[in-house]
Amino acid sequence: MITGGCGFIGSHLVRLFVKKYPQYRIVNVDALTYAGNLENLKDIEDAPNYFFEKADICDLKRIAQIVRDFSIDGIIHLAAESHVDRSISDPLVFAKTNVIGTLSLLQVAKEYWSQSEEGYKGKLFYHVSTDEVYGALEMTKPKGDQFGKGPYGELFFTEQTKYSPHSPYSASKASSDHFVRAFHDTYALPVVISNCSNNYGPYQFPEKLIPLFINNIRNGKPLPVYGKGENVRDWLYVEDHVAAIDLIFHKGKVSQTYNIGGFNEWKNIDLIKVLIKTVDRFLGHPEGYSNHLITYVSDRAGHDLRYAIDATKIYKELGWSPSLQFEQGIEKTVRWYLDNQEWMDRVTSGEYEKYYSQMYSKR
Ligand code: NAD
Ligand code: DAU
Repeated sequence: MITGGCGFIGSHLVRLFVKKYPQYRIVNVDALTYAGNLENLKDIEDAPNYFFEKADICDLKRIAQIVRDFSIDGIIHLAAESHVDRSISDPLVFAKTNVIGTLSLLQVAKEYWSQSEEGYKGKLFYHVSTDEVYGALEMTKPKGDQFGKGPYGELFFTEQTKYSPHSPYSASKASSDHFVRAFHDTYALPVVISNCSNNYGPYQFPEKLIPLFINNIRNGKPLPVYGKGENVRDWLYVEDHVAAIDLIFHKGKVSQTYNIGGFNEWKNIDLIKVLIKTVDRFLGHPEGYSNHLITYVSDRAGHDLRYAIDATKIYKELGWSPSLQFEQGIEKTVRWYLDNQEWMDRVTSGEYEKYYSQMYSKR
């Protein structure tokens, strides 16, 4: 069972598993909130090993039924409210989905698996989390010549870093991580957790920085840069994240946490300039054509200054490292959004939300 499989990262994970593991039955459980889009999985929706269940992870009874019906032995849990800005305006839904939803899944997994003949043997609850649980890092080094490519400080988030979430989103994810560990420590539920940095790539909902800005540049709309654009994020191509999830799911050690990151820190404003340059080039505009769209706006409340992941553990233990250079990843991403304008238009117009009823009334 993969939860949140119609979202950005979940859809890449479902696609990878459906194609790579024909021997598995992949059950995608998703409530289809505004962030869930069945069209993200159009290319594999008819695969014989793929099943979709529209369900809310907070609905214990329904989840228990699905787990029983499909004899689920592995859960990779991605369903969440995931946008920091939304968590600032509506924190309650974050507590409900991210905390109560995760707790409901844990409870079902514990009940169902502990009652099965073989118990927890061969079972795994994999919780997908974020680097934001660790809080924010200082900027302690001058940028020097490493501008946009090198570290902005000596400190990184490791698996030992203490939790210090600042936004309602990160507080809810931190809480869910604690529940996952508590179910291992209290009931011996086999769990594993990964905490990843900022993802980018195709199918990301265009309220997040990269797809929003690509679309705005294309349409000549303002680019709202929060504060001074000095905040640093560590960017990872989404397919590299799902490759890490695949590896951890199959080879990771039970009860462990793995940090996943791109070794790729960028100040927002520098990243935005790369986006402008790339989109302008692809659209045949002269260099600097869209620079005027940069618009500095009020900062995000409680805006974390810097995230940076130390991914040494997953590299050393499981041999994972990012496969793509950032320049390649950004070019692929910009190309995808420009080539898939129809996808973007259906998302921004709300048309995509009709796909579920069309698809299921056909059957
Ligand atoms: P997303 O917002 O694109 O997708 C979330 C999915 O969860 C959607 O399909 C939505 O319909 C579904 N969902 C929401 N509430 C639900 C509920 N109550 N029941 C069932 N389904 C529900 O998110 P994303 O960016 O793909 O992130 C996926 C996971 O990875 C999240 O747990 C997030 O915290 C984590 N993560 C994201 C990033 C990132 O950069 N995007 C980085 C690290 C970790
Ligand atoms: O670090 C992992 C996290 O990365 C995930 O857990 C979250 O689910 C994911 O949304 C992402 O969180 P961020 O808040 O870092 O992502 P976002 O794309 O919203 O913003 C990236 C940076 O860009 C951040 O510093 C805020 C800034 N920003 C964002 C938007 C949407 C702007 O300056 N302007 C904008 O319009």
